[in-house]
Amino acid sequence: MATLAELAAARAGLGEPAIDHLLRLTASWSLLADLAFSDMVLMAPDADDPEALVVLGQVRPNNRATVVTPDLVGTSHRAADWPLVHRSLAEGERVTGYASPEVVGEPTLVWAIPVRANGAVVAALVRLQGPMRGPSSLYEQAYLSIFVRLCDMVAASSFPFREDDVAGPGLPRVGDGIILLDAEGRVDFATPNAVNALHRVGVALSVEGRTLPELGLRLRALERARAFAMPTLEEVDRGSDVAIVFHCVPLLEDDRTSAVMVLVRDVSDLRRLNRVVLSKEAAVREVHHRVKNNLQTISSLLRLQARRSLERETRTALLEAERRVRSIAVVHEVLSREPGEDVSFDEIVRSLVLLVEDTVLALHPVEIVVSGELGVLSTDVATPLAVALAELLTNAVEHAFVDFTDADPSPVGVVTLRLARHGDEAIAEVRDNGVGVGPDFSLDAPTSLGLSIVRDLVRTQMRGTIEITTVEPAAGGGTLVRVEVPLDARR
Ligand SMILES: Nc1ncnc2c1ncn2[C@@H]1O[C@H](COP(=O)(O)OP(=O)(O)OP(=O)(O)O)[C@@H](O)[C@H]1O
Ligand SMILES: [Mg+2]
Repeated sequence: MATLAELAAARAGLGEPAIDHLLRLTASWSLLADLAFSDMVLMAPDADDPEALVVLGQVRPNNRATVVTPDLVGTSHRAADWPLVHRSLAEGERVTGYASPEVVGEPTLVWAIPVRANGAVVAALVRLQGPMRGPSSLYEQAYLSIFVRLCDMVAASSFPFREDDVAGPGLPRVGDGIILLDAEGRVDFATPNAVNALHRVGVALSVEGRTLPELGLRLRALERARAFAMPTLEEVDRGSDVAIVFHCVPLLEDDRTSAVMVLVRDVSDLRRLNRVVLSKEAAVREVHHRVKNNLQTISSLLRLQARRSLERETRTALLEAERRVRSIAVVHEVLSREPGEDVSFDEIVRSLVLLVEDTVLALHPVEIVVSGELGVLSTDVATPLAVALAELLTNAVEHAFVDFTDADPSPVGVVTLRLARHGDEAIAEVRDNGVGVGPDFSLDAPTSLGLSIVRDLVRTQMRGTIEITTVEPAAGGGTLVRVEVPLDARR
């Protein structure tokens, strides 16, 4: 779909400054749609066809049902079907009346407002209002009176403001609350939401007819909005519980500020939420810290018990448990340090190798060699992969070189960990030059804990594949474990 800038250039033949003006208008015009309870479209004469109009933009009100269901942006229309718009463009005046444009279907109140940029009429802002239910309320009339002033500003080229948009993410909307101040700064009217907000910042008096300073509210933003004829923003806090945003929009007449519309939004809940999120972050850091400490405590307890066990089997089992806890601690340590979702896997690998060397090599001198790298991985992959590799490295060191004797101090074996990325996959190979797993080995037969953990992590959690084979003696012998996991394991 073409953008406003593309349509304005290609179809309406408008130049850069005019397009910029229209972009700023449409950045702010949801405010106009809400004040008028109406759909709005932006139309410009077709550069190639004097009898045609092209729709450059469209906005629907937030506070009323739309009367224009189709998407009109980029559509072409006969000027004869939009006589009010055609006249407004030709005469440079606001033209209003009832019409039945095809896109609405029923008789509709239509306003066509000339959009002037640098003295020239470049487009028409078209208000389309469906039937009103019942007589309009006092607030609706007040909204409309502001809308009329803004329309005059559009025709006089003083709206949109050059400095700032008056609508957009984070800015108060019409429904949040409005205070209209007259030329003397006295409250002309204030919506109930706005009055509530004023109460929250300590205004106790009734507001009508008084100036904000008289009500005990000094807004620097208001003074600046008046003085410089531009929109300004100020947040007023009362204690840590109340935060109200005041958005002061000057309404200009002949370049003089004749009134100020103050949009008011109570953002207390939002600010409280921000504080909660911030304190949650601190809590998460604290939890990480405690988990780390707890893992360390568990691992020391296990080591202590292992040392006290008289039976060799019990001791080995306890030391194994201790190693598992520590390999989880290693991963945890890295995960808690790295910000966000991604972690440097190579750093994890370095720690894991140190850990395996530390715990197992004391019994069997074996050399561990790492080649290649995986770089940065998402934690969804990094965590299970690290735990699986810790198990595989331990297995190689523990089982591959069973005929080693304490009498021979030289390393009898080499374990290599090869890491690589292949397209969207991470590939990790753990290879040793030891005895091999034997021909009857099957990964699917119920095995002991270590390989069951690896199998489940690789296949179920990471949706990858694992293969364990004995390498022919001619090719060097030993065991080769190949793990392939998709890098986007989240699916
Ligand atoms: N690299 C290897 N070389 C030779 N045999 C191996 C190798 N890896 C695994 N095995 C064999 O597969 C068996 C199962 O391994 P697994 O890791 O599941 O259990 P484990 O290491 O004996 O005990 P744990 O549950 O403490 O890890 C091992 O006991 C061993 O016989
Ligand atoms: Mg094992």
